[in-house]
Amino acid sequence: MARVPVADWSSDWDHLDPAWVVDPYPIWQQLRETCPVAHTTRYRGVYFPTRYGDIRDVAYDPERFSSRRVVIREGDYRVNSPPITSDPPEHRPMRMALIPPFTPQAVAKLEPQTRILCNELIDRIIGQRHCDAAVDYAQHIPVRLIAHMLGIPAEQGDQFRTWIKMALQDGITNQAALKQAEEEISAYFAEQITKRRGDGPGDDLVSFLIKARLPDGEPFSDRQVLGALRLLLVAGIDTTWSAIGSSIWHLATHPGDRERLVREPDLIPGAIEEFLRAYAPVTMAREVVEDGELGGCPMRKGEMVLLSFPSANRDPEKFSDAGEVRIDRKENPHVAFGLGIHRCIGSNLARMEMRVALEEWLKRIPDFELDSTRPMTWSEGTVRGPRLLPITIAPR
Ligand code: HEM
Repeated sequence: MARVPVADWSSDWDHLDPAWVVDPYPIWQQLRETCPVAHTTRYRGVYFPTRYGDIRDVAYDPERFSSRRVVIREGDYRVNSPPITSDPPEHRPMRMALIPPFTPQAVAKLEPQTRILCNELIDRIIGQRHCDAAVDYAQHIPVRLIAHMLGIPAEQGDQFRTWIKMALQDGITNQAALKQAEEEISAYFAEQITKRRGDGPGDDLVSFLIKARLPDGEPFSDRQVLGALRLLLVAGIDTTWSAIGSSIWHLATHPGDRERLVREPDLIPGAIEEFLRAYAPVTMAREVVEDGELGGCPMRKGEMVLLSFPSANRDPEKFSDAGEVRIDRKENPHVAFGLGIHRCIGSNLARMEMRVALEEWLKRIPDFELDSTRPMTWSEGTVRGPRLLPITIAPR
């Protein structure tokens, strides 16, 4: 169904508006200068702070801004996915339980396999003049890795991506799609849990969560384990796929940066931080717990706040030349992985996937550009990244 066009970005914004989906940065810049805490009555009322300082204040104040709802939606269907949907004191036990598999040491063990996987994908592309860097490359990398970690078959990648789109994108306006995705993912993981209990747990993440204990020595409830597994599937795939895709999109449209990274691959880790800053994929939300104010703007209990880490990363008060992508930026305290108690658990994994994906791509496909004769599309809603990314590859 066609959406009502935005009448005024400061009082009627809509993150599903085509102008926002394609290029939100000028809209945010204008709001930062004229109305730093915007509002919309859509989605039953949502505030939209655009300045780094206001976004930081919301993220660091879980007492006033609750995570019991972290996605703005039409309708009131609520999803339980701890730790991301829980507040203190419930938040900590599940967060602590999830940290060990995502430490730098644990992630380093996955690097050789990631390199092999990237090269297998490139093998299928190499020799062709055209490919889609999102469809043929970026989307497969996080699916395969998280499926491996969870001990579930990566061949079901299409199914996982369909569920994630239903939950994160379609679910914003279509409660039935969200509910269906949640039920199907839960049924899928319930089966996996039963299987592990029958066969005896292995060394995958499903087994790890079954064996995890609360501080009092009790196991997590099945509802908590299922919620955490749903979160890992959703948080681990779309996000990293989007980050890899945006990085390749940048290089396909900025030949100077592409040539420099080919010549100086040691710059890749720093360039990745800059791509994470400039094209941060994840925007979360919070529920306002009590009447109050933010940045001088009154806030009403029960409404939501869009927590735009991507907008914080573009604030010129915090970053010099915030609107420019400088792949050799020295100081880069970006907040693409969030701030405060919910800061991303998977950041080491995501960074490793992005680095290996770019290193292997640039080694074997150093010369490429955006194919402007075919459509290029961006996802909408909670996670932003290219979904169609047509590329023309120069013959070698
Ligand atoms: C480039 C890729 C990624 C980005 C940009 C990203 C971003 C974020 C952000 C902004 C948050 C904070 C949410 C909030 O404040 O409400 C978060 C939380 C989280 N992320 Fe990521 N993420 C990425 C990849 C991953 C991966 C690969 C995993 C694991 C497989 C993961 C697992 C999580 C979990 C479990 C949380 C919840 C932490 C908590 O509530 O304590 N993320 N992520």
